[in-house]
Amino acid sequence: MNNWISKIPEQIKLLAVVVTVIITAFLIVRPMLIPAGFGEQGHFRSGALNDAVAVQFKYAGKASCVECHDDMTDMLAGGYHKKLSCEVCHGPLAGHIDDPDENTPSFPRERTLCPVCHEYLSSRPTGFPQIVSQSHNSLKACISCHEPHDPVPPDVPSQCSACHGEISRSKAVSHHVDIECEFCHTTPELHKTSPRQYRPSKPQNREFCGQCHTKNSKHNTKAPRIDLATHETRYDCWQCHYPHLPEAR
Ligand code: HEC
Ligand code: HEC
Ligand code: HEC
Ligand code: HEC
Ligand code: HEC
Ligand code: HEC
Ligand code: HEC
Ligand code: HEC
Repeated sequence: MNNWISKIPEQIKLLAVVVTVIITAFLIVRPMLIPAGFGEQGHFRSGALNDAVAVQFKYAGKASCVECHDDMTDMLAGGYHKKLSCEVCHGPLAGHIDDPDENTPSFPRERTLCPVCHEYLSSRPTGFPQIVSQSHNSLKACISCHEPHDPVPPDVPSQCSACHGEISRSKAVSHHVDIECEFCHTTPELHKTSPRQYRPSKPQNREFCGQCHTKNSKHNTKAPRIDLATHETRYDCWQCHYPHLPEAR
């Protein structure tokens, strides 16, 4: 009678016990895991409807700002940032809409905000404006040069002094203060945008300085005169006199 049971291998019996324990445990625990209200109205928890309704909105959306800040929404719409949401920079603002004076938005003035999108990353699409923030004007806030609501690369510097500050400051206190940079350096306009590719000229010979300094110069200046034919003829003038701050002694 017990014969067929004793013929079942030991492992299978053990397995049967384990399976039975698991199924029993599942049947006991199952009611505890099913949330209240499940199945009342369908294959979902009936209370979920009320929960969804009760969620507090965090974001208001760009459209809702127009009512009170149309100047800003207009400005944004016309520029490179037209596709950005206001709240990507100012944070979630649903509370602000309900009570503008009580819930004031944050002002992200730090240099950390903009690089989130503009830091150089090789995976960004080609042509997307990127900078390396460590070397891009690293001591000032981005918004001191770029209007966040209508960013454009600001004017590239047009004054020589913007890039050649030290030379300009030297010349400003030198005997050559009245001589324009361009008098001695013919400067292509493109030098200001691609300085290394388009180079200004530099004086080439002693006669250049001689224009004003030679004995019989016709230049009407109070430049001290020398005899070009005898004054240190073996060298170019600027090997002894720094042209941006010339000194005789
Ligand atoms: C119902 C009108 C109203 C709406 C809608 C509104 N704001 Fe304002 N917002 C105000 C008022 C009023 C102030 C000034 C609060 C103060 O000075 O204390 C303000 C201030 C601000 C400021 C700070 C300006 C400052 O000088 O302190 C920012 C930034 C701002 N709002 C952004 C937004 C954005 C973004 C939205 C859309 C998501 C928005 N606001 C929607 C009325 C509104
Ligand atoms: C790219 C980030 C960015 C976006 C997008 C942006 N803002 Fe701003 N916003 C700023 C920063 C940064 C300032 C602080 C400017 C400052 O201090 O000069 C500011 C200032 C403001 C101010 C105060 C201006 C003032 O002169 O007092 C208002 C109002 C404002 N933003 C509203 C908006 C609204 C409305 C939108 C969407 C239409 C928006 N902003 C989108 C970054 C942003
Ligand atoms: C959420 C992403 C995002 C943030 C944050 C952001 N920008 Fe932009 N920015 C863009 C997009 C998108 C463009 C348009 C790119 C295009 O037209 O291809 C753009 C364009 C620009 C341009 C135009 C450059 C050019 O030569 O075309 C400048 C400058 C700029 N942003 C500066 C800033 C500054 C400053 C801040 C911080 C106040 C800032 N951005 C924050 C996404 C962002
Ligand atoms: C001192 C002024 C100054 C500051 C501060 C500054 N920029 Fe610029 N930015 C410029 C100038 C000038 C240009 C255009 C010439 C150039 O590309 O260097 C420019 C160009 C850009 C461009 C366009 C690059 C391209 O290839 O089209 C982006 C984007 C930009 N800046 C973002 C930023 C961000 C982000 C910050 C802050 C981390 C910042 N800038 C800080 C002056 C500034
Ligand atoms: C946008 C920045 C910028 C502006 C503006 C600028 N320069 Fe330069 N300039 C440079 C840089 C950078 C170099 C250095 C190139 C190098 O060392 O390879 C340079 C080099 C020069 C040189 C040396 C050329 C050589 O071959 O040795 C002269 C001369 C010069 N600049 C004159 C001027 C004059 C004059 C102006 C104004 C009319 C001017 N620059 C405006 C950035 C500028
Ligand atoms: C009186 C003529 C004269 C004037 C004015 C002058 N330079 Fe020069 N500059 C020279 C000469 C000559 C050299 C060549 C020096 C050399 O090769 O050692 C030179 C060289 C330079 C160089 C190459 C780097 C260096 O320091 O030698 C730069 C950059 C430069 N000048 C910029 C300027 C700028 C910017 C101004 C205006 C603020 C200016 N120069 C005004 C005569 C002049
Ligand atoms: C456009 C005319 C002009 C040119 C070109 C010129 N200089 Fe001068 N230079 C002057 C004038 C004017 C003074 C005296 C200004 C004063 O005394 O206030 C002067 C003064 C000097 C002095 C005397 C400084 C002192 O301590 O007394 C030296 C040295 C000198 N220049 C060298 C040069 C060299 C080198 C060059 C060529 C790279 C050059 N200059 C080109 C007009 C010129
Ligand atoms: C080998 C170095 C050397 C060279 C090259 C040189 N100088 Fe001088 N220069 C001097 C010295 C040193 C003095 C002051 C002593 C003197 O008056 O002889 C001087 C004086 C001057 C003075 C002032 C004269 C006065 O009366 O105050 C001028 C102007 C001057 N040089 C212009 C030039 C010019 C222009 C050239 C190129 C044609 C030139 N120098 C080349 C060394 C040099």
